Amino acid sequence: MCGIIGVTGNGPVVPRLIDSLKRLEYRGYDSAGVAAVVDGAVERRRAQGKIRNLEAVLAEAPLKATVGIGHTRWATHGAPTTANAHPHKAGRVTLVHNGIIENFAELKAELAAEGHVFESQTDTEVIAHLLDAELNTGRSPLEAFKITLDRLTGAYALAVLIDGEDDLILGARRGSPLVVGWGEDEMYLGSDALAVGPFTQKISYLEEGDYVAVTRTGAQMFDVAGKPVERAVVQVSASSAMVEKGEYRHFMEKEIHEQPDSVQHTLSEYLDLVTGKAKTNAIDFAAVERIQIVACGTAFYAGQIGRYAFERLAGLPCDVEIASEFRYRSPAVSPKTLAVAVSQSGETADTLASLTWCKAQGLKTAAVVNVHSSSMAREAEVLWPTHAGPEIGVASTKAFTAQVAALLALAVAAGVARGRIDAAQEAELVKALFESPRLIAEALRMDASIRSVVQDLAKADDILFLGRGAMFPLAMEGALKLKEISYIHAEGYAAGELKHGPIALIDEETPTIALAPLDDVFEKTASNLQEVAARGGPVIMIAPENAPDPHGAGIRRIHAPDCHPLIAPLVYAVPMQLLAYYTAVQKGTDVDQPRNLAKSVTVE
Ligand code: M6R
Repeated sequence: MCGIIGVTGNGPVVPRLIDSLKRLEYRGYDSAGVAAVVDGAVERRRAQGKIRNLEAVLAEAPLKATVGIGHTRWATHGAPTTANAHPHKAGRVTLVHNGIIENFAELKAELAAEGHVFESQTDTEVIAHLLDAELNTGRSPLEAFKITLDRLTGAYALAVLIDGEDDLILGARRGSPLVVGWGEDEMYLGSDALAVGPFTQKISYLEEGDYVAVTRTGAQMFDVAGKPVERAVVQVSASSAMVEKGEYRHFMEKEIHEQPDSVQHTLSEYLDLVTGKAKTNAIDFAAVERIQIVACGTAFYAGQIGRYAFERLAGLPCDVEIASEFRYRSPAVSPKTLAVAVSQSGETADTLASLTWCKAQGLKTAAVVNVHSSSMAREAEVLWPTHAGPEIGVASTKAFTAQVAALLALAVAAGVARGRIDAAQEAELVKALFESPRLIAEALRMDASIRSVVQDLAKADDILFLGRGAMFPLAMEGALKLKEISYIHAEGYAAGELKHGPIALIDEETPTIALAPLDDVFEKTASNLQEVAARGGPVIMIAPENAPDPHGAGIRRIHAPDCHPLIAPLVYAVPMQLLAYYTAVQKGTDVDQPRNLAKSVTVE
């Protein structure tokens, strides 16, 4: 997750860029840079490490300008060096980027064959080269920008300067957020409201696929099809950003929409898309004989999804247990067991006690936690961080997908270390994982189809969630989400378990929601749905559009993005969360602070 700021105004721009970047350091801080228009040409300054290093560079070589862009980086492609720091430059184009360009390797090969020379290992630099090539054909900046955007696969927020364009910043968003800030004879672009917070509280949130041309006096916005659009200008409070809701009604909604970024940020901790490899981490998986995951609530379901991956990809036996049970039942653990606590807060009393107990038994311990200064982060020998950022909504969303992303990436690393995954498979799995931010962004567009079913769901007293494989724990997580915020009773079941009991619950009033990605058990799930439909139960099947239709009256379909089976839990988490969210909104409950719950359960 990187931070972006752009300013086109009348006063000195560099101090303003620096002021903004300091507020954005929370998004990443392994390098930073600025670029500004100096006498018609764009110049840049970059530095490895924190913003103060960039300030030192600027003190040596100041930039006098009124138009500029800035970036603080969290490395995804290439090491955190000055050469890989943003802004990147090719010919007349200088730009900053947050996100992942999935097809950068193909584009880079194509551009290299045409004679383009690259100076960094980043995916970002290919965008600069593509845009420069389009400008060189004589196209206008906006035409060239649109053609360039259409060639990119992946997630991005961009801010672009062009030599010879003294009062123009181009911006675009897909998957990663970008806002336009409105000032007095001055305009801004930022990766969030906090970025432009020092200068203005008047903001337009760009929508998926939008691009924009910002000048001192205004902004021309276009949608994904290139049609001119206007986006509402909203007033945010001065401290808006991390701890405020911005354009969203609830923190939970905001956090659901932050997932392309938070998953990408987390994956980048464990994987390197440039090399197609899982990064080395502090655990020697070859020496581990068993994994014992302990967690509570949503984190427990994330752990269960992790188990499928550790066993399938690494052949590593993995147990997952609710921490409040584990800690009191004197479990028998073998010495070469790796104990892994999974927790958003890192403070959950039962999980912490289980971790401490494992450590006292002499086991190796690791903690997948989102709060990196928490008790679990300090207690475990190895910290495996998630990078979801602060999660305010009591119902966990982005922390869950970050936990899943971390565990899936670690399972790939374990598979490699244990000789179960060769280099080609590793590259395929790493690529699949890095597709998830884009596909999560696509899943967020299921919003309208999800809303079309919530009126019916909100009337139900009981709802069943079904799934097979890793979709089973996700079904339980979907049921937990719905229970927590809509107060509707819901249960998640393994679809194959239905006829062993729960099918007795089926009647016309009890909806069943099925998670059915097109994987090797799709047909089996589909036949379970026919069994439900045959008994008069209304069914909502969430599956890709190209999945075959299960025959049965009353089966409604909601189309989800088609994806690699490994990342299906990340992509299908989104419709689960949206279903719970909109059902709760329909029922008028307190979404962010549901009754009887606390964000962190630090007592037994
Ligand atoms: O902070 P933790 O991840 O350890 O919290 C565990 C559970 O309390 C938490 O996941 C809870 O179930 C959430 N409210 C779920 O949305």
